[in-house]
Amino acid sequence: MTSSTTTPARVVVMGGSSGIGEATAARFVADGAEVVITGRSQDRLDQAAKRIGGGVLTHRMDGADPTDIDAFFAEGGAGLGAAPVDHLVLALSGSAGSGPFLELDPAELAAGFDGKFWPYVRILQAAVPRLAADGSVTLVTAASARAAFPGTAGLAAINGALEAMVPPLAVELAPRRINAVSPGVIDTAWWSRLPEEQRTALFEGLAATTPVGRVGRPDEIARAVHLMATNGFVSGVVLDCTGGANLPTGR
Ligand SMILES: NC(=O)c1ccc[n+]([C@@H]2O[C@H](COP(=O)([O-])OP(=O)(O)OC[C@H]3O[C@@H](n4cnc5c(N)ncnc54)[C@H](OP(=O)(O)O)[C@@H]3O)[C@@H](O)[C@H]2O)c1
Repeated sequence: MTSSTTTPARVVVMGGSSGIGEATAARFVADGAEVVITGRSQDRLDQAAKRIGGGVLTHRMDGADPTDIDAFFAEGGAGLGAAPVDHLVLALSGSAGSGPFLELDPAELAAGFDGKFWPYVRILQAAVPRLAADGSVTLVTAASARAAFPGTAGLAAINGALEAMVPPLAVELAPRRINAVSPGVIDTAWWSRLPEEQRTALFEGLAATTPVGRVGRPDEIARAVHLMATNGFVSGVVLDCTGGANLPTGR
């Protein structure tokens, strides 16, 4: 149970039909929570609900569409009913905005902000009035925010902007708690844009330079998100979950 009351916690995972979001939803379901997962494809949502094995509601919505966001969080909207949300997790994936900086089309970087930064901002603004007073929001950001990997300046800008907002929001929106989990490389569908051979070579190379000797698994990020959401004394924190890959003295 994730709530101090006897009623199950109500959890919304945006981007819950795959990868980190799906693993997070599964972890909360295992905890006895009532979970709603969202994504743009009803088919992918249905498949995720099947994998999770019940105890999860699905709602198709585009997190980049302000109309969808407002409809979801409207009083009585989207199966939320009138009861407040205890924990909101933002795990939408945006992929645009990466690549060598000198070749980065500013329009592509803007598309990256449109795919992740602005959806997170708009969702937060719509969701906070529906959050329980002791509720939480956990943003899934990315270690690229503060790493120095060539080709990630755009992703650093998008995720760094989100991470920079966490401490002031934790104070401004208190007593609600605002945190972020900042993952290193995690083996999810996010990487399926790369051909398998290239992906395998990349993961092997990263494993060799990461202190724990491998890339991460979605459930490892889910467990970090669960901790942020359910520990009522954690607020304003950006938690690195990278296997040590972001440490300056790594290996
Ligand atoms: N995997 C990594 O190595 C890694 C590392 C650092 C940070 N992250 C961050 O972790 C978060 C989750 O990534 P992941 O690896 O779990 O990716 P994923 O497996 O591709 O899952 C992304 C989820 O977001 C949903 N989504 C994408 N765009 C959406 C939109 N506009 N509106 C609603 N839902 C949307 C997808 O469903 P639909 O496509 O059906 O909408 C899916 O459920 C992302 O913010 C990513 O930047 C990932």
